[in-house]
Amino acid sequence: MKTNKKVTPTVIVIFGGTGDLAKRKLIPAFYNLFIENWMPENFAIYGLGRTELSNDEYRDNLHEGLAEFSRSGAPEDKQWNTFKESLHYFTSNINDAQSYTDLLKEIEAYDDTWGVRANRLFYLSVSPRFIETATQNISGSGLACDKTKDRIIVEKPFGYDKASAVELNQMLTKTFDEEQIFRIDHYLGKETVQNILAFRFANTLFEPLWNRNYIDSVQITVAEEVGVEDRGGYYEGAGALRDMIQNHLLQILCMVAMEPPASFDAEEIRSRKYDALKAIRRIKPEEVHHYAVRGQYGEGWIKGEKAPGYRNENGVDKNSNTETYAAIKFYLDNWRWQNVPFYLRTGKRMQEKTSSITIQFKPVPHASFPATQVDSIKPNRLTINIQPQMDIRLRFMTKRTGLEMNLNPSEMIFDYDTGSNQTPEAYETLLLDAMVGDTTLFMRSDQIEEAWDVISTIQEAWKNRDSLDFPDYPAGSWGPETAEALIARNGHVWAVNKHSNDKK
Ligand code: BG6
Repeated sequence: MKTNKKVTPTVIVIFGGTGDLAKRKLIPAFYNLFIENWMPENFAIYGLGRTELSNDEYRDNLHEGLAEFSRSGAPEDKQWNTFKESLHYFTSNINDAQSYTDLLKEIEAYDDTWGVRANRLFYLSVSPRFIETATQNISGSGLACDKTKDRIIVEKPFGYDKASAVELNQMLTKTFDEEQIFRIDHYLGKETVQNILAFRFANTLFEPLWNRNYIDSVQITVAEEVGVEDRGGYYEGAGALRDMIQNHLLQILCMVAMEPPASFDAEEIRSRKYDALKAIRRIKPEEVHHYAVRGQYGEGWIKGEKAPGYRNENGVDKNSNTETYAAIKFYLDNWRWQNVPFYLRTGKRMQEKTSSITIQFKPVPHASFPATQVDSIKPNRLTINIQPQMDIRLRFMTKRTGLEMNLNPSEMIFDYDTGSNQTPEAYETLLLDAMVGDTTLFMRSDQIEEAWDVISTIQEAWKNRDSLDFPDYPAGSWGPETAEALIARNGHVWAVNKHSNDKK
């Protein structure tokens, strides 16, 4: 998030170089940074994997990925031919120390050629069980011997509960200082999520209202149309709570709820987010059912296509108890947010892909309008659409043009230029930040641990008690009815269910 992002010569090493993430996200991100002149003049990217591949085979495979997944589409020959010269495949075994020593020799050669010790960025896009071995070998081989120049990026899942996250943090900090560790949550790199900070702290208009005196409730929805795709094996052990709530949704909550930072310094911003997590009221084990709802999709229809139930997806147990939907009501115990419910929900195979934040303001204290109009007054509402629609909408009441005093809700809209492909992808922002050493949009160890702590009683309760009514929502719906009931108890309805009657 720095304003002047000058990258020095860098060697990037991707563990899991033949994986899906490298093909869909990482290489397209580096390529777009390259064509937009953000990459340093001297850089090299090494994809690591066990399969025997030549550089050409590897490059061809990634070229296909760019055509399919890059926001800038299929690369132009001239640019690709220059870029691909910096792209290398390195056959290696993550458990074998020798591979790392061999890699070191290759990498050191760049330092001589470029006349400077290049920065080294290690991207761990591998199963969590390899993190320890990879880190130890990176350290043991001397690959990461300069604390000011070498960095490591760790993909989620970061642990599977608080204890394992603490253990992982302890293990990583044996080799790397906290400033060298970049725990990625790609939601923080999304343009619309970063914009929350600008919206809140670069305007005088909203911040005075941003508290319990004026805000009635907050909703954060991340709904996906996709099911578990080919990740059934991973998802079975994760579920919506670990896969989405613990990280992406809680991070969005932090952006909405945090106190204004004193500066744009990474530690300051991360500390304010940590404070927000710390303030979340912990749900008592016996109250989990009152605050949290889970669901699992059965078969159904999405946009005219038949979709299988979760239990029939590849890699999923026929009697699986894993939740593909979660909705939780949180409260924050601090002066700003006391008694304001924060509703978080996420689900797979929902009716529509949509992620948004809804800030619902309180009703006017007194409606001095003709009795016929009082019911049409809707409280102000701010909607921040994160994806795929990207905009900020403020709803307010106006008079309908005409000779009578008829009230009508209207909207002021800030629209991103969604038609163009100019918006950087989250991974572009985050990789560039990691290359310049800016940790603002990455998670500090205490944030991760606190986020696990927030959901720990729910994790426990759901682990220990099977849900007897799974599957409980059809693919292509808005989730289980119990989720409607969860917020109806406080007189609320989910704002983005297109069929909801929007009564509040
Ligand atoms: C990932 C989850 O972190 O985020 C996936 O593991 C989920 O299950 C994905 O589909 C959603 O990301 P996005 O950017 O498509 O909203």
